[in-house]
Amino acid sequence: MREFRTSFCDLLGIDLPIGGLTHSVAASAAISQSGGFGVYAATRDTPDEIREKGAALCKAAEGKPTGIDILLPKLDVATSDRAAVEAAIPESHRDFVRMLEQKYEVPPATRMGFRNRQVRSEELWEHQIEAVLASDSEVFACGVGINADVVKRAHAAGKIAMALVGSPHHARKAIECGVDLLVAQGAEAGGHTGTIGTMALVPQVVAAAGNVPVLAAGGIATGQQLVASLALGAQGIWMGTLWLTTTEHAMPDFYVEQLLSAGSGDTVVTRGSSGKPMRQIRTAWSDEWNAPDAPKPLKMPYQDILVGSIVQAAEEHGIAPLMHQPAGQSVAWCSERRSVGAEINRIMNEADRTRTALCLNL
Ligand SMILES: Cc1cc2nc3c(=O)[nH]c(=O)nc-3n(C[C@H](O)[C@H](O)[C@H](O)COP(=O)(O)O)c2cc1C
Repeated sequence: MREFRTSFCDLLGIDLPIGGLTHSVAASAAISQSGGFGVYAATRDTPDEIREKGAALCKAAEGKPTGIDILLPKLDVATSDRAAVEAAIPESHRDFVRMLEQKYEVPPATRMGFRNRQVRSEELWEHQIEAVLASDSEVFACGVGINADVVKRAHAAGKIAMALVGSPHHARKAIECGVDLLVAQGAEAGGHTGTIGTMALVPQVVAAAGNVPVLAAGGIATGQQLVASLALGAQGIWMGTLWLTTTEHAMPDFYVEQLLSAGSGDTVVTRGSSGKPMRQIRTAWSDEWNAPDAPKPLKMPYQDILVGSIVQAAEEHGIAPLMHQPAGQSVAWCSERRSVGAEINRIMNEADRTRTALCLNL
């Protein structure tokens, strides 16, 4: 597959123009071991966990390049002072969550959930940044909120700096900050997402990026889409959803079934989960928050703290209507459980056939 080598492959010294992010160390390492570039999403982790998981990631990737990703959105919360954040949550929002708990008969959570066990704040960002920079991972990845200072620090630590962007404006800003690699993530993507579709976004980000390689993301899961992305000027593809149902990911069975049976039309964007627009599988959770009479979700991190316990409790007690997983329109290709390597092989074979067919037909 060397003929698919692009400047992205050269930057990282890898064989395949495929990158991907997961919240599983094993699945991220498997992407790198399969010839692509695997990034571990550490935003939910404490700084100590980032140190542990970063070490585990590098060990599992056996010397292949990896990255660690965190989110650095601008917040109006300087310190992780839980009491101050709790105090700012309006009673009307608490009433709405209490109504959901009653309506769906949700028993209390027995422990903190991933949304509320830490309070997202500038103080937390700093500790997370330090942990990522101290890791042996080659790439510092930033999903939201890249800034020039953090890029400078990543470079000083000998790392490649990459950023995910959802608009040409943010692409220009990331380039000004000095990033080495960009992901142009279209609205079809799972997780936090913008409003511009992948097909419209990628060429505009490529134009803004100059010589900096761009990976196309959002709704992508096939070799045909890889070839199309190269045609748009991208140097590869970046995926999040496809890995969720891989054997390495070890996702709870409920979510695996939810994802395997979902199609592109079963995803929806809501601010109900984190306060920022997030594409996820549509369930009663997103319907409730998107209903016209629901309270307007709070800003991050207030929404995280507001819903942290009910999200945890729903998962702990198996309250299916409220259980939701971030996923993109690419969920259509989560159709059976396969290994990360098998998915990558499928994509490369499809890309090979597509390119041959295009050369014959054009
Ligand atoms: C379950 C899930 C969690 C995600 N978490 C993050 C994250 O923590 N940081 C980040 O930069 N991107 C995150 N993303 C977005 C991915 O990096 C990627 O851009 C996106 O999944 C691409 O579109 P796709 O979902 O159609 O593959 C997440 C995506 C999913 C599906």
